[in-house]
Amino acid sequence: MDDRLVSPHLTDDEQFIEGSLRPRHLEEYIGQEKIKENLNILLEAARRRNEPVDHILLYGPPGLGKTTLCNIIAAEMGVNLRTTSGPAIEHAGDLASILTSLQPGEVLFIDEIHRLARAVEERLYSAMEDFAIDVVIGKGPGARSLRLSLPRFTVVGATTRVGSLTAPLRDRFGAIYRLEYYDAEALKQILLRSASILKVPAEEDGISEIARRARGTPRIVNRLLKRVRDYAQVKANGTITKEVAQKALDALEVDELGLDQTDRNMLLTIIKKFNGGPVGLDTLAASTSEDAETIEDVYEPYLLQLGFIARTPRGRVAMRAAYEHLKIHPPETEGRSTLWTTT
Ligand SMILES: Nc1ncnc2c1ncn2[C@@H]1O[C@H](COP(=O)(O)OP(=O)(O)OP(=O)(O)O)[C@@H](O)[C@H]1O
Ligand SMILES: [Mg+2]
Repeated sequence: MDDRLVSPHLTDDEQFIEGSLRPRHLEEYIGQEKIKENLNILLEAARRRNEPVDHILLYGPPGLGKTTLCNIIAAEMGVNLRTTSGPAIEHAGDLASILTSLQPGEVLFIDEIHRLARAVEERLYSAMEDFAIDVVIGKGPGARSLRLSLPRFTVVGATTRVGSLTAPLRDRFGAIYRLEYYDAEALKQILLRSASILKVPAEEDGISEIARRARGTPRIVNRLLKRVRDYAQVKANGTITKEVAQKALDALEVDELGLDQTDRNMLLTIIKKFNGGPVGLDTLAASTSEDAETIEDVYEPYLLQLGFIARTPRGRVAMRAAYEHLKIHPPETEGRSTLWTTT
């Protein structure tokens, strides 16, 4: 996994601290108001009927709180959580053994559900719909299929690429929630909460500065907080002020919008090498030595959100805002410049 400071992915040494900062109950979960409201109703209704909650699919860019929300769902229902992931269930038999060991009402969390093997996915359909699974006993001509019934349970699936999910799988989910990037206010609240858990003294201006550069992502906000805290302790008196936050983040090369060298390189490649685009994803990947999938899942969503790039049928295009941010004079007339205004 990459070691960028603003990577939305979890690094190994963050696992422990991430656990301590993770909200445990719905009311501690900041932002995503629409999801919380709908989820609250879904959970309350299931509790009143004394039934497991419907299958839920959570999707959105990394680090926005899908795993956290799944933990909360199990906690709010007062049931056990079993965690697995798409790539971990290699064979239909693996799925059968997970499912047959579930207790009534348990939540089965399948992370990266878009990466389930096709044969496994097909078994999952009937399990989710009919709470039964067919297992094959024996081998060769003597083999026979046996239908086992399962207790009622809840699947919570999480994915960063909902487009890669097959329609039949998507249809098995009673509720589908898309997580959005967090606004500055929500990020500030997350920072205040984390700062108080970590016992870091911080001024409001300092908090705002970190929030501004965190790409709308709670995981990044928490990571930046820890790095700024280090800086404050070594280079200042320990308190995170606006000046301390600015200096720390400048030193870490995270700019005012949270872009780092990799993002700037991506934008500069489109602008300088490809004349502002359009440039196809694979060409862009080859020219920046990045992986096409990583560009699509990790870099692009935030640059799209900022309006720095646009996707067109012919490829990625740099928008006027990107030129302005990089202080590059945009091409004046005709041709490509018209692309900036069409999207
Ligand atoms: N709504 C929230 N309020 C407060 N903190 C949050 C919230 N959402 C996420 N976090 C923090 O961000 C961290 C990352 O969230 P989480 O692991 O749930 O993201 P994810 O969407 O599962 O990411 P990935 O796609 O990489 O699996 C959590 O440990 C938690 O500390
Ligand atoms: Mg996760």
